Amino acid sequence: MTPADASTARPVALITGASRGIGRAIADALAADHHLLLGGRDRDALDELAAGLPSAEPFAADLTDPAATARAVEELDLPEGLAALVHSAGILVSGRVDELAAEDWSRSLTANVAAVADLTRLLLPALRRAHGTVVTLNSGSGFSSGPGGGAYSASKFALRALTDSLREEERAHGVRVSSIHPGRVDTDMQHELRAYEHGDYERENYLRPASVAAAVAFAVRAPSEASVDVLSIRPR
Ligand SMILES: NC(=O)c1ccc[n+]([C@@H]2O[C@H](COP(=O)([O-])OP(=O)(O)OC[C@H]3O[C@@H](n4cnc5c(N)ncnc54)[C@H](OP(=O)(O)O)[C@@H]3O)[C@@H](O)[C@H]2O)c1
Repeated sequence: MTPADASTARPVALITGASRGIGRAIADALAADHHLLLGGRDRDALDELAAGLPSAEPFAADLTDPAATARAVEELDLPEGLAALVHSAGILVSGRVDELAAEDWSRSLTANVAAVADLTRLLLPALRRAHGTVVTLNSGSGFSSGPGGGAYSASKFALRALTDSLREEERAHGVRVSSIHPGRVDTDMQHELRAYEHGDYERENYLRPASVAAAVAFAVRAPSEASVDVLSIRPR
């Protein structure tokens, strides 16, 4: 089966942040029964990743650049619509309020909220055609915040507001919206966070990306009359 044949035979799932960490694990979790559009910024790396999956192609764009995002969406061919849009791309901006500049707050809110809203807007017609599922990778930080976590948490609180609104707006269109809230996960982002906290990296205390990916796959594959609205998954 050529990639083109495979893409028409399978429901299509676009996963942002698929190049690394949780998004990469989500690609593995959905690969068996979806044609995957793999989001990230390095097209060559995405090409290599796609080659190792049953049915996948790159979706390369810097999602904080609205023009680049719009161009990448225009290039998509989705005659059957989009069955799943999984937003795993995100950044960590750490720092106390007395350390952060306006630009730091903007970076966090742009990458973790505005970019998510904009890509969703562009893909809503395709999502409506397929009665698809939008999944956002939120965080425990979307419910509470602490020292040094203001800019990241603010973006995840705002992301929760976005998904709450979107869920109600799209109910009539048959699009469902899931907000997944992991605790600490063993990824590059966690290495960044532990470096900021000056703490040891305790892999055994963190979730594996595959465990979070299983929660995402559960939301995507939920029976059509059900919606996983909000799901919290944390290390034991
Ligand atoms: N790790 C945790 O403990 C944890 C806990 C709770 C929630 N989360 C959330 O889960 C999601 C995934 O986190 P992770 O730990 O897997 O992160 P990660 O390992 O740092 O990977 C981040 C991913 O986002 C992509 N990305 C970042 N900025 C982008 C941009 N401007 N345009 C396009 N892609 C961009 C990266 O692509 P490139 O390869 O091109 O850089 C990469 O694929 C994030 O939303 C994060 O906030 C993480």
